[in-house]
Amino acid sequence: MKVYFNGHVMDDQEVHISFDDRGFLFADGVYEVVHIYSGHFFEWDRHMVRLARSLKGIDLEGVNIAAITEGAQQLLQDFKEEEGALYLEITRGVYPRSHPFPPSDVPPTVLMWIRPVNPFPQEMIDHGVGVITVADDRWAKVWIKTIGLLPNVLAKEKAHKMGMFDAVFVRDGMVTEATSANVFIVRQGYLQTAPVTNYILPGITREVVLEIADELRIPTILEPFSVDDMLSADEIFLTGTTTEVLPVTTVDGHTISDKAGEITLRLLKALKERASTVS
Ligand code: PDD
Repeated sequence: MKVYFNGHVMDDQEVHISFDDRGFLFADGVYEVVHIYSGHFFEWDRHMVRLARSLKGIDLEGVNIAAITEGAQQLLQDFKEEEGALYLEITRGVYPRSHPFPPSDVPPTVLMWIRPVNPFPQEMIDHGVGVITVADDRWAKVWIKTIGLLPNVLAKEKAHKMGMFDAVFVRDGMVTEATSANVFIVRQGYLQTAPVTNYILPGITREVVLEIADELRIPTILEPFSVDDMLSADEIFLTGTTTEVLPVTTVDGHTISDKAGEITLRLLKALKERASTVS
């Protein structure tokens, strides 16, 4: 596999990351995941805008987004599969462990690779997945796409141990998002998702789905909703770069419906159509 490492594309075997890397020591870094459909990045520019915002959010300077874009294109030329995902991670570089930022001449570590993405089995789309709810005990800067994902990992593992697909975070009685996706509900024909605050990651797919809903004249509400709202919803789905639009049919063991909702499936279809026309 080819990997972009600090300005160069090389074999994965050639990449050596120091144990003094601040990503390893402090989770001092940010990341992006970009979907590739038929040889094209989906919504590359929006991902780079969010990356720039995350970098600013952790005061990490000296990252050249144009060089990253060029490196990503180089990786893409090597990638021959139909669908994939680019993972990009930037950390505050290598320096002997010490909490303050390293001197400004320490360059960030920049790493990227592309791996194939396998579409979800049709059964998961048709019948939806189950989620559990968990307390959102993450920090107050969830809008930064930081590599520090331990609460997300623990919540996802808890869901898996219970035989469920994912966990949905709940803060002050309101649903924020899932462990690596945003959450939507449909009630009486309205689409609802949490508004963008510091407590959610402003998903690119969330944004695209809201645009698609506008095009399809499905009314949208950007307001917080509770677990009870979710339990009484007509439809629920998750959105994310690799999750796309994924129907949810059970919450904490309660059945919402026995199959994927109609609006959910319309949105998924429209997202796929949009993805197939990217160039
Ligand atoms: N996760 N919320 C969280 C906490 C996320 O980690 C993600 C993405 C999203 C959806 O954002 P987007 O639509 O831009 O992918 C929401 C990525 C895919 C991941 O961690 O793998």
